[in-house]
Amino acid sequence: MQSDIQRVLFDGPAIHKRLGELAKQITADYSDRELTVIAILTGSLMFMSDLLRRIPLPLRLDCLSVVSYHGKTQTSGDVIFKELAVPDVADRDVLILDDILDTGYTLAAVRKKLEMAKPRSIRVCVLLSKRKQRARDIDADYIGFAIDDEFVVGYGLDFMERYRNLPYVGVLRKELLERMASDDSVMLSQAKHL
Ligand code: IMP
Ligand code: MG
Repeated sequence: MQSDIQRVLFDGPAIHKRLGELAKQITADYSDRELTVIAILTGSLMFMSDLLRRIPLPLRLDCLSVVSYHGKTQTSGDVIFKELAVPDVADRDVLILDDILDTGYTLAAVRKKLEMAKPRSIRVCVLLSKRKQRARDIDADYIGFAIDDEFVVGYGLDFMERYRNLPYVGVLRKELLERMASDDSVMLSQAKHL
């Protein structure tokens, strides 16, 4: 698994240090309110678990499973919610957690869906945000790290459901991406679990 990684962007200690800073900021911003965290599975699992343990506030936690059908390494515009009902967030202060903001399709769809329940406020927190033009008008309020537009894996992020358990975030070798992506018959039959 390690040999598939071209270079490490953020190792475990760097991630944990940054999570400490993010948690401090979020704790200060919500000190007088009860937070409702909505984590988007599966990619945000590690991030959610390490971040929330650093936030000493009363909070509620819910998870949403979202699937996006895709070709190659791009998310498609079709964002499908696996739950029949979304959490009731009426009058709540909602913080959406996701692993990475890429095209923006996923977070824009989740935000729109939750807004229908009339929360008091909604903010978005991501571990990673790619510096690029987005397909949807959405930005994150809290960002762990801004990165170049490269395909990364580890610390929850996957490529074809693998590499999530790496304790760091790294760039996947280009040859590997190209080899896998050229086999469209495999890729197109995959539903990407975000
Ligand atoms: P978006 O809808 O294009 O913003 O994509 C968001 C989802 O696509 C994330 O939650 C990830 O699951 C996945 N994704 C986007 N970029 C990457 C990447 O570089 N590595 C792994 N997954 C990614
Ligand atoms: Mg994914």
